[in-house]
Amino acid sequence: MKIVVIGGTGLIGSKLVKKLGEHGQEAVAAAPSSGVNSITGEGLADALKGAAVVVDVTNSPSWEDAAVLKFFETSTRNLLAYGAAAGVGHHVALSVVGTERLLESGFFRAKLAQENLIKASSIPYTIVRATQFFEFVTKIADFSTKGNQVGLPPALIQPMSADDVASALGRIATSSPLNRTIEIGGPEMFRLDEFARRALAAFRNPREVISDSHARYYGIQVSERSLVPDNDAQLGETRFEDWLTQATKPVANADLHPA
Ligand SMILES: NC(=O)c1ccc[n+]([C@@H]2O[C@H](COP(=O)([O-])OP(=O)(O)OC[C@H]3O[C@@H](n4cnc5c(N)ncnc54)[C@H](OP(=O)(O)O)[C@@H]3O)[C@@H](O)[C@H]2O)c1
Repeated sequence: MKIVVIGGTGLIGSKLVKKLGEHGQEAVAAAPSSGVNSITGEGLADALKGAAVVVDVTNSPSWEDAAVLKFFETSTRNLLAYGAAAGVGHHVALSVVGTERLLESGFFRAKLAQENLIKASSIPYTIVRATQFFEFVTKIADFSTKGNQVGLPPALIQPMSADDVASALGRIATSSPLNRTIEIGGPEMFRLDEFARRALAAFRNPREVISDSHARYYGIQVSERSLVPDNDAQLGETRFEDWLTQATKPVANADLHPA
């Protein structure tokens, strides 16, 4: 089955293309660097020829309010129009758990616009809302850093590894369209401040994480459960501690340069 991964060179896209290939699927990584641009339409018709499934894991180069909205609206409209013309039978898109609770941010208004365009299109679809990736933890901390301190609210978070996101997307892309939104998340729940504190400590980063109920998550006021999925979310297996151990493991230079 030909599965085109738009954004196939990104964090999730590259893992997804690899996993689909390992499972014997014809996975095509489409991105501007491979001559496929979902904004200009360049290369889309050719890339989608004969495709059964399109998986959209693109991200906007700019998160400025107007720019990110324009990106997701234009990109999604193009993918749906070119997809319909090519006879694509399943449009899968990656979105974010809690999007409708995070609309103070232009990024999430753009993700909601993307979801609504998909729901209104004629192509059968599955929207997959994921929780925050473990790989995103330093960016969360960086956004809330002032001097040597990181102020974060003690809101609940149920993050997951990018690997588990890609595995879930692979299963969904090779199954029938659900024509609804599903949620995926990690196996454990933390407080947001604790999540960042554990990562910075593991990365030997000297910043101090302060728990502050008035602090914002990515500039957004969140409540206790804004970021966590409902009870029926599909859960990944990778635990944060194991991911941290892997992410901080020194490269085995001795193996590369034997004495
Ligand atoms: N971060 C999180 O915790 C989180 C949580 C839930 C959901 N998500 C969602 O997950 C999705 C993927 O995230 P990610 O971290 O994997 O993104 P990423 O690493 O930034 O990758 C983005 C991909 O989009 C491609 N792209 C950019 N502009 C494009 C265009 N005009 N046409 C075609 N492709 C284009 C990039 O191609 P180039 O390499 O050529 O630039 C790249 O392959 C996002 O939509 C995000 O909202 C993120």
